[in-house]
Amino acid sequence: MNYRTNEEIEIQRHSALMVSATLTEVTKILKPGLRTIDIDKMAETFIRDNGGIPSFKNYGDPRNPYPYALCISVNEAVVHGFPSDYELKDGDIVSIDCGFYKNGFHGDHAYTFAIGEVRQEVLDLIRVTKESLYLGIAQAITGNRTGDIAFAIENHTNRKHGYGVVRELVGHGVGRDMHEDPQVPNYGKRGSGKRLQENQVLAIEPMINLGTRHIYTADDGWTIVTEDGLPSVHFEHDVCVKKGKPDILSDYSPIEKAEKANSNLNSSYYTL
Ligand code: MF3
Ligand code: CO
Repeated sequence: MNYRTNEEIEIQRHSALMVSATLTEVTKILKPGLRTIDIDKMAETFIRDNGGIPSFKNYGDPRNPYPYALCISVNEAVVHGFPSDYELKDGDIVSIDCGFYKNGFHGDHAYTFAIGEVRQEVLDLIRVTKESLYLGIAQAITGNRTGDIAFAIENHTNRKHGYGVVRELVGHGVGRDMHEDPQVPNYGKRGSGKRLQENQVLAIEPMINLGTRHIYTADDGWTIVTEDGLPSVHFEHDVCVKKGKPDILSDYSPIEKAEKANSNLNSSYYTL
């Protein structure tokens, strides 16, 4: 049973790749002293110039809708951080999450950057979280279940490295709506959860803490923060479930190229 036609997958691939393109533009300008609100402004302009709508802007409860195009989560902020007049500084890590809606489909993905000199134990957290994303993605094949993705992520980050796996927020189906079924947790048992269907698109997004897994919501009603104040890392890809080999619709390669070319960023963690 096909969840989505191949034509629809190609339309969604365009939205996912436009998120990658937006994040690539952002990667080129990241440096200490840059205000996170200015990153948001340039991303929103880029999205709209390319005929898209920022999926996150005005999302959620009408009494407190998400006000920005990007989520920019620095250090102990896990996800859903508000862009602000905060200036990035040497030693920060920053997760940038972006949504792009066009032709009826959403792309939604994220990347964590290290600004300048970042402590080795935090670079390790970035590397392991990114590795866990790909281990989870490898499970996104027909016949498997959401729990197989979850187990792969939890096994690598928590059982192997002792990091805290955030439970209150999860990955999700993504398509005509930004959040669709099924939920894709980052912890759980092999063989549990919903069975994956061919041409179903999943946003797989490990949120991994250096310390405790526990989090709270800041007073703005959105920003998720680690309870112990230690850093947290977030990576996200949009993945189409296939037989045998998943099809990753989003693309980190232009982001990684721009990351390596930007001397203000530390990308040594994955080139070691
Ligand atoms: N990648 C995040 C998610 O899947 C982005 C949502 S931000 C929101 O939940 F503001 F739009 F909710
Ligand atoms: Co998401």
